[in-house]
Amino acid sequence: MSAQTQIRRKTVRDIAKAKGGTPLVCLTAYDAPRAALIDEHVDVILVGDSVGMVVHGLDSTVGVTMDMMVLHGQAVMRGAKQAFVVVDMPFGSYEGSPVQAFENASRIMMETRCQAVKLESGVYAGETVRYLVERGVPVMAHVGLRPQAINVDGGFKAKGRTDTERERVIKEARAAEDAGAFAVVVEGVAEDLAAELTQELSIPTIGIGASAKCDGQILVTEDMLGLFEWTPKFVRRYGNVKGEISSSVEKYAEEVRSRAFPGEAETYSLKS
Ligand code: KIV
Repeated sequence: MSAQTQIRRKTVRDIAKAKGGTPLVCLTAYDAPRAALIDEHVDVILVGDSVGMVVHGLDSTVGVTMDMMVLHGQAVMRGAKQAFVVVDMPFGSYEGSPVQAFENASRIMMETRCQAVKLESGVYAGETVRYLVERGVPVMAHVGLRPQAINVDGGFKAKGRTDTERERVIKEARAAEDAGAFAVVVEGVAEDLAAELTQELSIPTIGIGASAKCDGQILVTEDMLGLFEWTPKFVRRYGNVKGEISSSVEKYAEEVRSRAFPGEAETYSLKS
């Protein structure tokens, strides 16, 4: 590839510079074709551990493994050329100690060649974030509703609606920033808390269910494309992929059964 046609991939500096400017556009992807399709439109692609629910049919992200994240991360990196690619650290891969986190984060970075990892960061995780950043691993933090904590919380619940919870989310975000995280995903919090975090932090806040008062937005791509019957309140549907798949497959089934498919155009004939 010549220097002229080479596509420049976004770096951690491009993401940091977006603070207070045009909102960062972020979406998830788990495979190469979808990553290639969304690449030109987005700033950040997250290989989220939501892959467990969206692709593997799990009922939460708790069963997602390191091998799953590495495999999907590699696929996305083959499809995405310009977006900044972040891979989620799955439950159980970083909470034990900073050393455990570094072993797993470095494996993700070496085997996928992604640009950063994301971890769901309670206040305790500040030490881990610092340990990773000092050793060359860029970290995106994730505060507020933390899906990997579903078993402690007893379900997916919005955060920061009481004074105690509010203080906790602010502490989590400050701890991540102080430890060197380059951005923070803020999930499932009320607008005024999102606004306060965005104003107080010097790193970009990326909201999901956290209002427009963030420095960027992220959604699960399949949710916004309309693949599922049910989506959380904060999702806006931009497509009807479920309807498209269902009507296309219905037509295919009809045509196979009536022998209308394959037709002449799809059939090989003898060479004359
Ligand atoms: O796993 C995921 O997809 C996430 C979100 C922020 C969308 O963490």
